[in-house]
Amino acid sequence: MQKPRHFITFRDMSLEEHKRLITRAVELKAERAAGSFRLDHLAGRPVIMMFSKNSTRTRVSFESAITELGGHAVVINMGDSQWTRGEPLSHTARVLSRYVSGIVIRHTKEAELVELARWSSVPVINALTDERHPCQVLGDLMTASERLGGVEALASRTFCWIGDGANMLNTWLEASAVFGFPLRLACPEGYLPDRGILDRAMSENPRIRICGAVSEAAEGADVVTTDVFASMGFESEKEKRLRDFRGYQVDARLMESAAPGAVFLHCLPAHPGEEVTDEVIEGPASAVWDEAENRLHVQKALLEYVIPAL
Ligand code: CP
Ligand code: NVA
Repeated sequence: MQKPRHFITFRDMSLEEHKRLITRAVELKAERAAGSFRLDHLAGRPVIMMFSKNSTRTRVSFESAITELGGHAVVINMGDSQWTRGEPLSHTARVLSRYVSGIVIRHTKEAELVELARWSSVPVINALTDERHPCQVLGDLMTASERLGGVEALASRTFCWIGDGANMLNTWLEASAVFGFPLRLACPEGYLPDRGILDRAMSENPRIRICGAVSEAAEGADVVTTDVFASMGFESEKEKRLRDFRGYQVDARLMESAAPGAVFLHCLPAHPGEEVTDEVIEGPASAVWDEAENRLHVQKALLEYVIPAL
Protein backbone atom coordinates (compact mmCIF):
# COMPACT_ATOMS: atom_id res chain seq x y z
CA MET A 1 0.00 0.00 0.00
CA GLN A 2 1.22 3.53 -0.82
CA LYS A 3 2.42 5.59 2.18
CA PRO A 4 -0.12 8.32 3.01
CA ARG A 5 0.91 11.96 2.51
CA HIS A 6 0.47 13.64 5.88
CA PHE A 7 0.52 17.41 6.37
CA ILE A 8 1.58 17.97 9.96
CA THR A 9 4.25 20.59 9.46
CA PHE A 10 4.78 23.07 6.64
CA ARG A 11 7.93 21.11 5.85
CA ASP A 12 5.92 18.02 4.90
CA MET A 13 5.57 19.57 1.42
CA SER A 14 8.40 20.76 -0.79
CA LEU A 15 8.60 24.28 -2.18
CA GLU A 16 7.32 23.00 -5.54
CA GLU A 17 4.39 21.27 -3.87
CA HIS A 18 3.46 24.39 -1.91
CA LYS A 19 3.54 26.47 -5.06
CA ARG A 20 1.42 23.88 -6.85
CA LEU A 21 -1.11 23.86 -3.97
CA ILE A 22 -1.42 27.66 -4.03
CA THR A 23 -1.74 27.72 -7.82
CA ARG A 24 -4.40 25.02 -7.66
CA ALA A 25 -6.24 26.90 -4.88
CA VAL A 26 -6.34 30.00 -7.09
CA GLU A 27 -7.90 27.90 -9.88
CA LEU A 28 -10.42 26.31 -7.53
CA LYS A 29 -11.35 29.77 -6.22
CA ALA A 30 -12.03 31.02 -9.76
CA GLU A 31 -14.02 27.89 -10.65
CA ARG A 32 -16.11 28.25 -7.49
CA ALA A 33 -16.78 31.91 -8.28
CA ALA A 34 -18.08 30.73 -11.65
CA GLY A 35 -20.40 28.27 -9.88
CA SER A 36 -18.46 25.09 -10.61
CA PHE A 37 -17.36 22.52 -8.00
CA ARG A 38 -15.30 19.31 -8.02
CA LEU A 39 -17.93 17.00 -6.62
CA ASP A 40 -16.33 13.98 -8.23
CA HIS A 41 -13.04 14.06 -6.31
CA LEU A 42 -14.23 12.81 -2.91
CA ALA A 43 -17.58 11.54 -4.20
CA GLY A 44 -19.30 9.79 -1.33
CA ARG A 45 -16.14 9.45 0.75
CA PRO A 46 -15.98 10.42 4.42
CA VAL A 47 -13.22 12.46 6.03
CA ILE A 48 -13.10 12.75 9.82
CA MET A 49 -12.49 16.07 11.57
CA MET A 50 -11.53 15.81 15.23
CA PHE A 51 -11.29 18.78 17.58
CA SER A 52 -10.03 19.14 21.12
CA LYS A 53 -9.92 22.96 20.84
CA ASN A 54 -12.41 25.58 19.71
CA SER A 55 -12.70 26.54 16.06
CA THR A 56 -14.83 28.63 13.69
CA ARG A 57 -12.85 29.03 10.45
CA THR A 58 -11.05 25.69 10.40
CA ARG A 59 -14.13 23.67 11.23
CA VAL A 60 -16.37 25.39 8.69
CA SER A 61 -13.81 25.84 5.90
CA PHE A 62 -12.74 22.18 6.03
CA GLU A 63 -16.32 20.93 6.23
CA SER A 64 -17.25 23.16 3.28
CA ALA A 65 -14.19 22.02 1.34
CA ILE A 66 -15.05 18.35 1.90
CA THR A 67 -18.67 18.96 0.87
CA GLU A 68 -17.66 20.90 -2.24
CA LEU A 69 -15.37 18.03 -3.26
CA GLY A 70 -18.34 15.67 -2.99
CA GLY A 71 -17.30 14.01 0.28
CA HIS A 72 -18.82 13.86 3.73
CA ALA A 73 -17.28 15.36 6.88
CA VAL A 74 -17.70 13.40 10.10
CA VAL A 75 -17.04 15.96 12.85
CA ILE A 76 -16.33 14.87 16.39
CA ASN A 77 -15.37 16.60 19.56
CA MET A 78 -12.48 14.55 20.88
CA GLY A 79 -13.97 14.69 24.34
CA ASP A 80 -16.81 12.53 23.01
CA SER A 81 -14.46 9.90 21.60
CA GLN A 82 -12.64 7.06 23.31
CA TRP A 83 -9.32 8.90 22.72
CA THR A 84 -9.79 10.99 25.84
CA ARG A 85 -10.70 7.88 27.82
CA GLY A 86 -7.26 6.47 27.09
CA GLU A 87 -7.72 4.32 23.97
CA PRO A 88 -4.23 3.95 22.48
CA LEU A 89 -3.60 6.25 19.51
CA SER A 90 -2.26 3.27 17.58
CA HIS A 91 -5.69 1.64 17.91
CA THR A 92 -7.64 4.82 17.10
CA ALA A 93 -5.53 5.45 13.97
CA ARG A 94 -5.95 1.95 12.59
CA VAL A 95 -9.68 1.86 13.27
CA LEU A 96 -10.33 5.28 11.70
CA SER A 97 -8.22 4.34 8.67
CA ARG A 98 -10.70 1.54 7.95
CA TYR A 99 -13.62 3.99 7.75
CA VAL A 100 -12.47 7.29 6.32
CA SER A 101 -10.27 8.68 3.53
CA GLY A 102 -8.55 11.31 5.64
CA ILE A 103 -8.15 12.64 9.19
CA VAL A 104 -8.20 16.38 9.93
CA ILE A 105 -7.29 17.07 13.53
CA ARG A 106 -6.96 20.07 15.88
CA HIS A 107 -5.31 19.15 19.14
CA THR A 108 -2.96 20.46 21.81
CA LYS A 109 0.05 18.16 21.61
CA GLU A 110 1.58 17.74 18.19
CA ALA A 111 3.49 14.64 19.28
CA GLU A 112 0.12 12.88 19.46
CA LEU A 113 -0.65 13.83 15.85
CA VAL A 114 2.71 12.42 14.84
CA GLU A 115 1.89 9.20 16.66
CA LEU A 116 -1.57 9.06 15.07
CA ALA A 117 -0.01 9.58 11.64
CA ARG A 118 2.53 6.83 12.28
CA TRP A 119 -0.30 4.33 12.58
CA SER A 120 -2.71 5.82 10.07
CA SER A 121 -2.97 4.47 6.54
CA VAL A 122 -4.88 7.60 5.43
CA PRO A 123 -3.51 11.18 5.34
CA VAL A 124 -3.47 13.11 8.62
CA ILE A 125 -3.81 16.91 8.32
CA ASN A 126 -2.82 19.26 11.14
CA ALA A 127 -5.66 21.71 11.74
CA LEU A 128 -3.64 23.48 14.52
CA THR A 129 -1.63 22.27 17.45
CA ASP A 130 0.09 24.16 20.26
CA GLU A 131 3.19 24.07 18.05
CA ARG A 132 1.99 24.75 14.49
CA HIS A 133 -0.81 25.85 12.15
CA PRO A 134 0.33 24.93 8.62
CA CYS A 135 -3.06 25.17 6.85
CA GLN A 136 -3.36 28.76 8.05
CA VAL A 137 0.05 29.81 6.75
CA LEU A 138 -0.67 28.12 3.42
CA GLY A 139 -3.84 30.27 3.17
CA ASP A 140 -1.87 33.32 4.25
CA LEU A 141 0.69 32.76 1.51
CA MET A 142 -2.07 32.38 -1.06
CA THR A 143 -3.47 35.72 0.15
CA ALA A 144 -0.06 37.39 -0.04
CA SER A 145 0.45 35.97 -3.53
CA GLU A 146 -2.89 37.40 -4.69
CA ARG A 147 -2.01 40.87 -3.43
CA LEU A 148 1.70 40.96 -4.17
CA GLY A 149 2.36 39.66 -7.65
CA GLY A 150 1.70 35.92 -7.63
CA VAL A 151 3.25 32.82 -6.16
CA GLU A 152 6.64 33.21 -7.85
CA ALA A 153 7.05 36.66 -6.24
CA LEU A 154 6.65 35.33 -2.69
CA ALA A 155 10.33 34.50 -2.23
CA SER A 156 11.28 38.15 -2.70
CA ARG A 157 8.64 39.68 -0.43
CA THR A 158 9.56 40.73 3.09
CA PHE A 159 7.32 39.35 5.82
CA CYS A 160 7.20 40.71 9.33
CA TRP A 161 5.83 39.12 12.49
CA ILE A 162 4.83 41.21 15.50
CA GLY A 163 3.96 39.54 18.81
CA ASP A 164 3.68 36.10 20.35
CA GLY A 165 6.12 33.37 19.34
CA ALA A 166 3.52 30.60 19.35
CA ASN A 167 2.09 28.19 16.76
CA MET A 168 1.64 30.83 14.05
CA LEU A 169 5.15 32.23 14.23
CA ASN A 170 6.65 28.72 14.42
CA THR A 171 4.88 27.95 11.16
CA TRP A 172 5.93 31.24 9.53
CA LEU A 173 9.53 30.32 10.35
CA GLU A 174 9.15 26.99 8.59
CA ALA A 175 7.45 28.66 5.63
CA SER A 176 10.29 31.15 5.43
CA ALA A 177 12.80 28.30 5.40
CA VAL A 178 10.88 26.51 2.62
CA PHE A 179 10.25 29.62 0.45
CA GLY A 180 13.42 31.52 1.35
CA PHE A 181 11.67 34.86 1.91
CA PRO A 182 12.96 37.43 4.42
CA LEU A 183 11.12 37.21 7.73
CA ARG A 184 11.63 39.73 10.50
CA LEU A 185 10.27 39.03 13.93
CA ALA A 186 9.67 41.25 16.92
CA CYS A 187 8.53 39.36 20.02
CA PRO A 188 8.43 40.60 23.63
CA GLU A 189 11.07 39.23 25.96
CA GLY A 190 10.17 35.70 27.01
CA TYR A 191 7.87 35.14 24.02
CA LEU A 192 10.29 33.99 21.34
CA PRO A 193 9.21 31.03 19.19
CA ASP A 194 10.24 27.42 19.77
CA ARG A 195 14.06 27.35 20.00
CA GLY A 196 14.53 24.25 17.82
CA ILE A 197 12.24 25.55 15.07
CA LEU A 198 13.89 28.99 15.18
CA ASP A 199 17.47 27.67 15.08
CA ARG A 200 16.79 25.29 12.23
CA ALA A 201 14.95 27.90 10.16
CA MET A 202 17.69 30.50 10.76
CA SER A 203 20.38 28.03 9.79
CA GLU A 204 18.57 27.38 6.51
CA ASN A 205 17.48 30.92 5.72
CA PRO A 206 19.91 33.73 6.56
CA ARG A 207 17.16 36.22 5.70
CA ILE A 208 15.35 35.56 8.99
CA ARG A 209 16.08 38.35 11.48
CA ILE A 210 15.13 38.83 15.12
CA CYS A 211 14.47 42.53 15.71
CA GLY A 212 14.64 44.38 19.00
CA ALA A 213 11.85 46.81 18.10
CA VAL A 214 8.55 46.51 16.24
CA SER A 215 9.49 49.54 14.12
CA GLU A 216 12.66 47.78 12.94
CA ALA A 217 10.68 44.66 11.98
CA ALA A 218 7.94 46.52 10.11
CA GLU A 219 10.07 49.05 8.24
CA GLY A 220 9.67 48.48 4.52
CA ALA A 221 7.91 45.10 5.01
CA ASP A 222 5.47 43.90 2.34
CA VAL A 223 3.40 41.86 4.77
CA VAL A 224 2.78 42.69 8.43
CA THR A 225 1.19 39.93 10.46
CA THR A 226 0.35 39.21 14.07
CA ASP A 227 -1.83 37.04 16.32
CA VAL A 228 -3.61 37.31 19.65
CA PHE A 229 -1.52 37.88 22.78
CA ALA A 230 -2.96 34.78 24.46
CA SER A 231 -3.52 31.73 22.26
CA MET A 232 -5.97 28.96 23.14
CA GLY A 233 -4.82 27.33 26.35
CA PHE A 234 -3.12 30.50 27.63
CA GLU A 235 -6.25 32.47 28.57
CA SER A 236 -5.33 32.42 32.28
CA GLU A 237 -2.19 34.47 31.44
CA LYS A 238 -4.22 37.17 29.72
CA GLU A 239 -3.63 39.97 32.25
CA LYS A 240 0.12 39.32 32.45
CA ARG A 241 0.36 39.13 28.68
CA LEU A 242 -1.53 42.41 28.23
CA ARG A 243 1.26 44.00 30.28
CA ASP A 244 4.12 42.08 28.63
CA PHE A 245 2.89 42.84 25.11
CA ARG A 246 2.56 46.58 25.65
CA GLY A 247 4.04 48.26 22.56
CA TYR A 248 3.43 45.18 20.38
CA GLN A 249 0.24 46.45 18.75
CA VAL A 250 -0.04 46.82 14.99
CA ASP A 251 -1.39 50.34 14.54
CA ALA A 252 -1.68 52.81 11.65
CA ARG A 253 1.72 54.33 12.41
CA LEU A 254 3.44 50.98 12.21
CA MET A 255 1.65 50.18 8.94
CA GLU A 256 2.81 53.53 7.53
CA SER A 257 6.41 52.47 8.07
CA ALA A 258 5.84 49.30 6.02
CA ALA A 259 6.31 49.25 2.22
CA PRO A 260 3.81 51.14 0.07
CA GLY A 261 0.92 48.74 -0.62
CA ALA A 262 1.85 46.53 2.34
CA VAL A 263 -0.71 43.95 3.41
CA PHE A 264 -1.91 43.25 6.94
CA LEU A 265 -2.70 39.62 7.78
CA HIS A 266 -4.15 38.02 10.91
CA CYS A 267 -5.22 34.40 11.19
CA LEU A 268 -8.25 35.43 13.31
CA PRO A 269 -9.90 35.36 15.77
CA ALA A 270 -8.59 38.85 16.59
CA HIS A 271 -8.95 41.05 19.63
CA PRO A 272 -9.17 44.54 18.08
CA GLY A 273 -7.72 47.09 20.46
CA GLU A 274 -5.11 44.61 21.73
CA GLU A 275 -2.72 43.14 19.12
CA VAL A 276 -4.16 45.30 16.30
CA THR A 277 -6.17 48.49 16.17
CA ASP A 278 -9.66 48.56 14.71
CA GLU A 279 -8.37 51.11 12.18
CA VAL A 280 -5.81 48.65 10.77
CA ILE A 281 -7.93 45.50 10.72
CA GLU A 282 -10.80 47.40 9.08
CA GLY A 283 -8.49 49.53 6.92
CA PRO A 284 -7.37 49.30 3.28
CA ALA A 285 -4.21 47.28 3.99
CA SER A 286 -6.13 44.54 5.74
CA ALA A 287 -6.64 41.32 3.77
CA VAL A 288 -8.08 39.35 6.67
CA TRP A 289 -11.42 38.43 5.07
CA ASP A 290 -9.76 37.14 1.90
CA GLU A 291 -7.29 35.36 4.15
CA ALA A 292 -10.11 33.61 6.00
CA GLU A 293 -11.83 32.73 2.70
CA ASN A 294 -8.60 31.36 1.25
CA ARG A 295 -8.49 28.68 3.94
CA LEU A 296 -11.34 27.03 2.02
CA HIS A 297 -9.48 27.08 -1.29
CA VAL A 298 -6.06 25.93 -0.05
CA GLN A 299 -7.64 23.15 1.98
CA LYS A 300 -9.59 21.97 -1.06
CA ALA A 301 -6.33 21.90 -3.02
CA LEU A 302 -4.66 20.06 -0.14
CA LEU A 303 -7.43 17.45 0.22
CA GLU A 304 -7.40 16.90 -3.53
CA TYR A 305 -3.63 16.40 -3.44
CA VAL A 306 -3.23 14.14 -0.40
CA ILE A 307 -6.40 12.06 -0.93
CA PRO A 308 -6.05 10.63 -4.41
CA ALA A 309 -9.19 10.15 -6.50
CA LEU A 310 -10.43 6.56 -6.66
N1 CP B 1 -7.66 30.86 12.03
C1 CP B 1 -8.26 29.79 12.56
O1 CP B 1 -7.74 28.67 12.54
O2 CP B 1 -9.49 30.05 13.11
P1 CP B 1 -10.37 29.08 13.98
O3 CP B 1 -9.71 28.93 15.31
O4 CP B 1 -11.70 29.78 14.08
O5 CP B 1 -10.48 27.76 13.28
N1 NVA C 1 -2.39 31.23 18.01
C1 NVA C 1 -3.83 31.09 17.98
C2 NVA C 1 -4.29 30.77 16.59
C3 NVA C 1 -5.77 30.61 16.44
C4 NVA C 1 -6.18 30.29 15.05
C5 NVA C 1 -4.24 29.99 18.94
O1 NVA C 1 -3.58 28.94 18.98
O2 NVA C 1 -5.21 30.19 19.68
